[in-house]
Amino acid sequence: MPMNIAIDGPAGAGKSTAARMVAEKFGYIYVDTGAMYRAMALYMLREGIDPADQEAVEAACGAADISLEYRDGVQQVLLNGENVTHEIRTAGVSRTASAVSAYGAVRVKLVELQRKLAGRRDVVMDGRDIGTAVLPNADLKVYLTASAHVRALRRFKELSAAGQADVSLDGVEAEITARDKQDMERTISPLKRAEDAVLLDTSDMSLEQVVSELEELIEDAGSRGCCGC
Ligand code: DC
Repeated sequence: MPMNIAIDGPAGAGKSTAARMVAEKFGYIYVDTGAMYRAMALYMLREGIDPADQEAVEAACGAADISLEYRDGVQQVLLNGENVTHEIRTAGVSRTASAVSAYGAVRVKLVELQRKLAGRRDVVMDGRDIGTAVLPNADLKVYLTASAHVRALRRFKELSAAGQADVSLDGVEAEITARDKQDMERTISPLKRAEDAVLLDTSDMSLEQVVSELEELIEDAGSRGCCGC
């Protein structure tokens, strides 16, 4: 059976960077499920479909063929055959992804794809509902979080470093808080800590500390799952 590591948590908690690093260390693939919801959001934006119109989004989502590929170990997201890995990283796509991810038909489609990937390969998968809904039998579940202020500060620094001078720290914090609310209060698979998930509050932790904590947890999970040979 492949090893399945589930990492959930709110936006900006540092899941993707830490998950990518530990996946590389253990030779697992890293699956960023948020990128799939982002690709779906991009599809709706391009088609001019109002993300608030559930019926229209659910009717259209079947035509969005979303898949993942790995180039030099780095996840690439394809939308109907086109590589959209970079295009999905905008504030507009973030907001739309949070909106469309609340709809059942969108989730059913993407969860199926996520489970297929985890059934075939050792994975570190991050998202909002991996431990609670996608992989309820994961070998290890981690809920990674940090205060909204710390998360906003991290995101703000990333955006500033990327030359996006048109954003303010307060604006980033407001966006993060709004997305938390939307992701935590939706009816289907809301963001929440699975009962058996290890809680890691990274507010006062460096990336190196988070990675080393995760590595230890994965090693422990690996030895628990081993027959003892
Ligand atoms: O991880 P991210 O910020 O790229 O995710 C974008 C949005 O996608 C997030 O606001 C909620 C949604 N999402 C989800 O509902 N379930 C997941 N497993 C991953 C992301």
